[in-house]
Amino acid sequence: MPSDVRTKDFVSVLDFEPAELESCLVLASRLKRERHLGAKAPTANALDGAHVAMLFEKPSLRTISTFEIAVRELGGNIITPFPDVALSPREPVIDVARNLERWVRCAVIRTYAHSIVLEFAKAAPRMHVINALTDQEHPCQALADFQTLRETWGSWVGRTLAFIGDGNNVATSLAQAGVMLGVNIHIASPAGYALSDSVIQQASRVARHGAQIRLFRDPADAVKGANAVYTDVWTSMGQEAEATERRKAFAGYQVTMPLMRQAAPGAFFMHCLPAHREEEVTTEVMESSISVVFDQAENRLHAQKALLYTLMAEAPPRG
Ligand code: CP
Ligand code: NVA
Repeated sequence: MPSDVRTKDFVSVLDFEPAELESCLVLASRLKRERHLGAKAPTANALDGAHVAMLFEKPSLRTISTFEIAVRELGGNIITPFPDVALSPREPVIDVARNLERWVRCAVIRTYAHSIVLEFAKAAPRMHVINALTDQEHPCQALADFQTLRETWGSWVGRTLAFIGDGNNVATSLAQAGVMLGVNIHIASPAGYALSDSVIQQASRVARHGAQIRLFRDPADAVKGANAVYTDVWTSMGQEAEATERRKAFAGYQVTMPLMRQAAPGAFFMHCLPAHREEEVTTEVMESSISVVFDQAENRLHAQKALLYTLMAEAPPRG
């Protein structure tokens, strides 16, 4: 990316150039190592009193907690307007955005329609906008996941990640980030729940090192040769009315120990959490030594700190 161009928003992984994504993840691991320095960390004042608005219309444990801690550890402040005021028919989204940009440097938004986050970003040219999950994408999750993969694998290029389940927001962001970093993505989904063609086409345009997205029907085919196996809930937030139908459709898509044994030797298990044990994954897999789900959760903090730094700090960190 040319040095005079600065990415304003992170609505999608695709907002980053591959090199920018990579350096953000390298910075994430560095911030993780430096966290013990507390107020003496070189990045402790990076946001220099800036305010960040947190607008969450869906439940969250990990994303909201880690963003709040990340902002504070970078020297910024949080405001949390009520989502039923800020993301409601009370006033148009573009007016909310234009108010907020007069007060805060960044808005972190979790909502249903992806178009709302895009509208925010467009309406507020002076405010950074970060997607904290929409029905379509979960880019901050993918940051933490690929930080975790690099820390565990040592590198990304040429590895394979298998995703078993719904071609949903988490799968979309994983596929986008994966191919940008040179990781092959295998996704096994039942009929009607596959990753969309448009996501595959868009992601393939930014793929590097020959990385590919391949779709499968049978989970056993998808995990063959995979160095990590990932799953997510079968029913995402907002789809609760479809839960019974989805439980039937995904019945053969549980990640079990026998399935993990069909992956490459040393493959480990990943989940964005929250997990439904004995639905998309067995307790045995979740609790096994090959499960890195809490490393992923920890890395949400470091990856989002690196993201805020990349978007908002005035100069690259020294050292
Ligand atoms: N993985 C994730 O985004 O968790 P929360 O929904 O708790 O934020
Ligand atoms: N696909 C899930 C991810 C939760 C972090 C959802 O959207 O509910």
